[in-house]
Amino acid sequence: MKEIHDFTVLERHRLGESYFSLVLGHGAEMQSVAPGQFVEVMVEGEPKVMLRRPISVHDVNSERGTLTLLVQIVGNGTRRLSQLVEGDRLNIVYPLGHGFTTDLPTGSRAVLVGGGAGTAPLFHLGKVLCSKGVDCTVILGGRTESLIPVSDAFAAFGRLCIATDDGSRGHHGLVTQHPAFAEAYDMVYTCGPTPMMKAVARSAAERGIRCEVSLENMMACGVGACLCCVTDTDQGHRCVCKDGPVFDISTMKKWYQC
Ligand SMILES: Cc1cc2nc3c(=O)[nH]c(=O)nc-3n(C[C@H](O)[C@H](O)[C@H](O)COP(=O)(O)OP(=O)(O)OC[C@H]3O[C@@H](n4cnc5c(N)ncnc54)[C@H](O)[C@@H]3O)c2cc1C
Ligand code: FES
Repeated sequence: MKEIHDFTVLERHRLGESYFSLVLGHGAEMQSVAPGQFVEVMVEGEPKVMLRRPISVHDVNSERGTLTLLVQIVGNGTRRLSQLVEGDRLNIVYPLGHGFTTDLPTGSRAVLVGGGAGTAPLFHLGKVLCSKGVDCTVILGGRTESLIPVSDAFAAFGRLCIATDDGSRGHHGLVTQHPAFAEAYDMVYTCGPTPMMKAVARSAAERGIRCEVSLENMMACGVGACLCCVTDTDQGHRCVCKDGPVFDISTMKKWYQC
């Protein structure tokens, strides 16, 4: 059930030059949020930003009743959000979209491949998979080490591998060139820049491994009303906000082959 709530900023952390995280609570029981689902955030105090901004749920703490967002500053909306301080209010619609599949058998092997801000939803995913006894490998990539946020926290969920374009940390090269990526898995999950996700999807398809991608198309309403986020799938046009953002690549050949 979608809800609109005024959340309170309980914690704010700056993570390097371009990222920050917000821990939010609204003082009442929270809706359950599946990994891969997102929220639409109202940006107040910035006259140039009219529409809500879609942000993935990075972490959920059900005991504390909080959710965490991990955000990269790329424009007016995210810059304004980065200026929030503890005690500020943030109006949020949640939970939105269709998340990742997490009902894998205990002992199955999954690889989570993230790039840049696409790392955000993979944290909640890794936590849930780990609690279900799934053997997780996390491969995170970026142009340089400082552009891979919160990487070390992922080590709690399994093996952590890093790939950087400039070799500043981990494997020198792309995530798909990391030796761990070539291993056998039962499931591949990916979120990040579109070229990276397409390369991951193509490789998974060639190897016959099930794979889910989380698309980050531009959005407005976030609930399937305005059609601005439509993507072309093998089953026709689909709204990324309502039918996704997570899609199984078995329906996305058109998308990853081009
Ligand atoms: C389902 C979903 C989940 C997302 N989750 C996260 C997240 O967890 N953390 C995070 O940092 N970002 C996330 N994003 C991207 C985030 O929504 C945009 O970065 C944000 O809306 C930009 O707002 P702005 O006002 O700061 O920038 P704008 O001024 O709107 O745009 C600044 C620049 O960013 C580009 N941009 C805007 N939106 C997107 C987008 N969706 N994808 C790629 N480029 C974009 C614009 O083309 C422009 O070049 C998500 C997007 C979607 C659709
Ligand atoms: S954002 Fe409006 S239909 Fe998806």
